Amino acid sequence: MSGYRLLENASLEGRNTFRVGARANLLADVYHADALVELLAYPGLQNGPLLLLGAGSNILFVDEVPGVVLSLAMHDIRILVDHDHHAIVRAEAGAMWNDLVHWTLGHRLLGLENLVLIPGTVGAAPIQNIGAYGVEVGEFIEVVEAFDRSAHRACRLNRSDCGFGYRDSVFKREPDRWIITAVEFRLPRQRELMIGYAGVPEELAAMGADPPRAAQVAEAIARLRSRKLPNPVVLGNAGSFFKNPILTSTDAQALAERWAGLPVFAAGDDALRKVSAAWLIEQCGLKGYRSGDAAVSEQHALVLVNHGRASGRNVLELAQHVARCVVERFGVALEPEPRIVGAVWQPVLA
Ligand code: FAD
Ligand code: EPU
Repeated sequence: MSGYRLLENASLEGRNTFRVGARANLLADVYHADALVELLAYPGLQNGPLLLLGAGSNILFVDEVPGVVLSLAMHDIRILVDHDHHAIVRAEAGAMWNDLVHWTLGHRLLGLENLVLIPGTVGAAPIQNIGAYGVEVGEFIEVVEAFDRSAHRACRLNRSDCGFGYRDSVFKREPDRWIITAVEFRLPRQRELMIGYAGVPEELAAMGADPPRAAQVAEAIARLRSRKLPNPVVLGNAGSFFKNPILTSTDAQALAERWAGLPVFAAGDDALRKVSAAWLIEQCGLKGYRSGDAAVSEQHALVLVNHGRASGRNVLELAQHVARCVVERFGVALEPEPRIVGAVWQPVLA
């Protein structure tokens, strides 16, 4: 067994949660870390176009993918260091994120419970610093193990090297440079649970979880997520299609005064605020709007969905339409969250 499998002219339709059609010149599935080292020594992989693909839950394929698509399937999870008050857990890139969350809870380690049920792989989690219900993963990342294609060597990045921000990191800013092979997390055994996000206290109360345990917080958030977001197994989607716009506090306040009801959130900096993109889209009358099989979800206005036969280009055109409507009505620019492959997002400026 070579530790990898190559497939020419491979279909990617079953490998993206939008379930749009696309093909890769060459798809490489890698099952062992040693095989990755071997593969990366080939000249075509050293310098040619390369796209890392996890579970395809934050990607929109608009065209065929030239070069190689690399998918890492190594999925070991283990404790590297075990202390009374915390542990360092190492997970390989191909492990499923939600499996890791449940594994850590099973080992009585805290921190990841609010990130339950986020689709995708461990290797993709640092890319946009996944976040939900008041927690971002960067807070718990000790080291990202990666291969740096620009220096042709494996390296270890500490949390402070990763440039984590809201849906952002050095990895997202230089997507052709990094191959994340594993992530090490520093997880406490005791910590105050984060249960303040809208809807969570009510869900915990309905469950009779008082005071709640971490596993109950995860359960409450899983229930909320299942009600709020369309399930990609049933209806193709990639979660939020746009980031929540970040405005200066002054601009956000002026907008909220003009448009009563606009949800405004803290943005980790006193001078800045996040405003709800879902609300802006819904107020444009676009919730449930359909253009062929591409649509704005009826369940959540920030999610674009594929009702069956939409192509990546159909979804992209719908997204550009949504962004134009929001700029025209509110003067606020939306930026896409997923990676768009095979086309360039045309910014619709305020
Ligand atoms: P992919 O979609 O395969 O790839 C995403 C990006 O990461 C691409 O640029 C890809 O090239 C790169 N990449 C993947 N693996 C590697 C690697 N090993 N090394 C280098 N680059 C890599 N996100 C949130 O933050 N919070 C949420 O609450 C949330 N909810 C969601 C709900 C639904 C229903 C869906 C469908 C998506 C949601 N997402 C959410 C988005 C998505 O789940 C995350 O971004 C996830 O981390 C993507 O993982 P993936 O393995 O599917 O990555
Ligand atoms: N809202 C509407 N209309 C809708 C849906 C929501 O007006 O159709 C309003 C709600 O009233 C609420 C506000 O929007 O006050 C926020 O809604 P929600 O709590 O669902 O969060 P979000 O800002 O829309 C963000 C993340 C999600 C993450 C949730 C929970 C981004 C881009 N999205 O969504 O992440 O799960 O918060 O923390 O930051 C993703 O990144 O793919 C994703 C799903």
